[in-house]
Amino acid sequence: MMTINPTGTPVWAEILIIPIALIALSIARHIIQQLLFPNKDEPPLVFSWLPFIGSTIDYGIDPYKFYFKYQKKYGNIFSFVLVGKKHTVCLGLEGNNFVLNSSVSEISAADIYRGLTLPIFGKDVCYDCSPAKLMEQKKLLKYSLTADKLDSFVPVFLDVMQNYVEHAEDFQGNEGVFDVVECMAVTTIFTAAASLQGKEVREKLDQGLADLYHTLDLSFIPINFYLPGLPLPVNRRRDEAHKKIAAIYTNIINRRRALGGESAREADDDMIWSLMRSTYKDGTPVPDHEIANLMIGLLMAGQHNAYSVGSWILFRLASRPDIQKALYQEQREALGTDLIISARRDLVSKLPLHKMVVRETLRLHDPIHTVMRAVKVPLTFTSTSRSYKIPTSHVLISAPGVTAQSAEYFPEPDKWEPRRWEAMTDFLERGEKRGAMSAFLPFGAGRHRCVGEEFAYLQLCTIIAYMVRNFVFRPMEGEGVPKTDYTAMLTRPVLPARLQWEKRSKE
Ligand code: HEM
Ligand SMILES: *[C@@H]1O[C@H](CO)[C@@H](O)[C@H](O)[C@H]1NC(C)=O
Repeated sequence: MMTINPTGTPVWAEILIIPIALIALSIARHIIQQLLFPNKDEPPLVFSWLPFIGSTIDYGIDPYKFYFKYQKKYGNIFSFVLVGKKHTVCLGLEGNNFVLNSSVSEISAADIYRGLTLPIFGKDVCYDCSPAKLMEQKKLLKYSLTADKLDSFVPVFLDVMQNYVEHAEDFQGNEGVFDVVECMAVTTIFTAAASLQGKEVREKLDQGLADLYHTLDLSFIPINFYLPGLPLPVNRRRDEAHKKIAAIYTNIINRRRALGGESAREADDDMIWSLMRSTYKDGTPVPDHEIANLMIGLLMAGQHNAYSVGSWILFRLASRPDIQKALYQEQREALGTDLIISARRDLVSKLPLHKMVVRETLRLHDPIHTVMRAVKVPLTFTSTSRSYKIPTSHVLISAPGVTAQSAEYFPEPDKWEPRRWEAMTDFLERGEKRGAMSAFLPFGAGRHRCVGEEFAYLQLCTIIAYMVRNFVFRPMEGEGVPKTDYTAMLTRPVLPARLQWEKRSKE
């Protein structure tokens, strides 16, 4: 029996009628507003049926498809509603430049990313400090990534790979199947930690450390981007992992100081040593907790992107036996039979096809599909002779992956063809000169540009060189290159992502 009140309607209906009416009204207002009263000064707005949700689902399923669809409809600038906020996308060369080359007085990355990154990296680094301080921190990091330093990483990378393959369950015997994303997640974190963090970390590189980083990585999810600070289990685990990792680095720093500081440095001069003797411009030494948090941030920034790109590379290679063969020949000719001994100096420039494989994979599988900035002052974007106003209530988006996948700049853009870059040296040189005014910006541009580009090329080239030297890869029966999963906030292959391997016969 339902409770009936004197007017004859059930109580639940009376309780619900007001919220339902409010929701209906707000939907009606949202639709009418878009259809009848568009703001002609502002960029065209992608139509959506629901307020707040707007285009969130359409965008979330496949951001690139979304960008291309509305670029076709509206051109290089349009807005859409994402989780209750208007986001304005600026595409094309001018769009890339407009967003990435704007000054800090106009836009802010920290306002967007701080909620997500603060609990992962920790205090006083990256987006939890002023843009000027972030700039200084990036310079300090760059100092310890010189060409000489990078050369010294190669034997470390190869050693880590050797060790990994000897012990990984998936790689025992003469052939088998392996989990590509898992393999790349572990090898990229181990190679990065072993090279950047020095002897102490190298000595205790084990699954424990990989698991701690993986726990941090798992909190890199959209809900933490839009609603940071919720008491979710994934966030509790993240906070514990942060504490443990930070303690590992602080212990290393303390032990080094106790052993006599600089004099204990020996030949092993890693990023931690380098930060320990660094000072900011005003002369203050970098505090220990900032060193620890920079190391965490650095490893996360690097590994998060590298494991995704590395996975895509292996899938692309598996479906192109001709390129695998050409890579093998390239290494044999450039480096001879002993990779570990001969691959020390200037590895990447000795292996141009390897580099093109990385570059072409970055073009088609740019891990960062969306770069966001808060708008600090009203902006004006001019595209094909029309100007649009972008108010401070909007979020700005740059998506250089769109120009990178456009036929206008790359003929047959959907084809993975590393050798296309052979004919593009002019393009790359022009890109260097024009900064953000380029069609290929997987490492960003302007003041937030990546400091890890050379490191990433070297790390990925070395990992591929090792893998191709030792194995031949094939897709799983009846499978090709996997589809992309965008839910993890980067472009990762849909799981399970596996390939078949077989030991290469060494002639
Ligand atoms: C394939 C690998 C990588 C890709 C595709 C990549 C991509 C990017 C992009 C697109 C940005 C700009 C983000 C923005 O403008 O909001 C960036 C910034 C950055 N990356 Fe990388 N990165 C990679 C590897 C690395 C590595 C290995 C390191 C460290 C060794 C690193 C450290 C950084 C840092 C410190 C920033 C600066 C953030 C800022 O100024 O806001 N990245 N990266
Ligand atoms: C990028 O910004 C810098 C500094 O504001 C400026 O000098 C440069 O001309 C800009 N580049 C482009 C292509 O607009």
